[in-house]
Amino acid sequence: MSRAEMPPLETDLRLAVLRPLLEKNAVNKAELTLALSVDLPLDAQVQIADPGGVPGRPAQPVLVSHTSLKAKPLNTPEGRALLLHAIAHIELNAIDLALDVVWRFCGMPEAFYRDWVRIAKEEAKHFLLIQKHLVSMGFDYGQFPAHNSLWDMAERTKGDILARIGLVPRTMEARGLDASPGVKNKLVSAGDMAAGRILDIILEEEIGHVAAGNRWYRHVCQARGLDPVATYRELIQTYDAPKLKSPYNLEARRLAGFEEEELNYLAANGL
Ligand SMILES: [Fe+2]
Ligand SMILES: [Fe+2]
Repeated sequence: MSRAEMPPLETDLRLAVLRPLLEKNAVNKAELTLALSVDLPLDAQVQIADPGGVPGRPAQPVLVSHTSLKAKPLNTPEGRALLLHAIAHIELNAIDLALDVVWRFCGMPEAFYRDWVRIAKEEAKHFLLIQKHLVSMGFDYGQFPAHNSLWDMAERTKGDILARIGLVPRTMEARGLDASPGVKNKLVSAGDMAAGRILDIILEEEIGHVAAGNRWYRHVCQARGLDPVATYRELIQTYDAPKLKSPYNLEARRLAGFEEEELNYLAANGL
């Protein structure tokens, strides 16, 4: 379907996500996402043509390589702002990632699309919580450089829903579960209690996102007759996913529905 042939965005949930996804301004993107109605009707079967410009991104922050980003001591406001800026950037990417699966991949059950729109709205909330906190500290989203490794993985996996779900929610977002307690400790130790409270909200909701990733990953594995554990190892290698590092947040991972077999493998081998 070309863009000119599309029905109005408001009449179909899978089309409606394109508006926030293509929006360039970060705060507007978050607010447009929060305004999406999860209950819109949707056509799960239609293959929606790439509208171009996915995802809309602001001119700032400048995107640089992962390795050129340098942390600063957290006992300075700038050091804390740098860390919070990196989290805001992850949340902005997470909005786009959740919206992207909704238009891009057809043929999934209706509940799949509604799950990811709900998740996109939680990501929008996370982004705004951090962005407003940055503003309260005298900083803002966009003023420091950021990296693009989350969207790189989205690009690499755009041809296969199994790879996308396997490697984005249940790998990259699950890494967020592992990292969260340490990041929260650092911010709280530096005296930023408000950031600590925000990270508690984010962690709780992120467990739900990873759980949705696990649920839909298993759904697609089952539909294709694939073993979820062996297939995951293959996906990691085929798509050159970033290595996971201990310590793992096993409690959060269990809550998010990882099987003991997967957690044991993780503990024994890393990935
Ligand atoms: Fe989030
Ligand atoms: Fe998330």
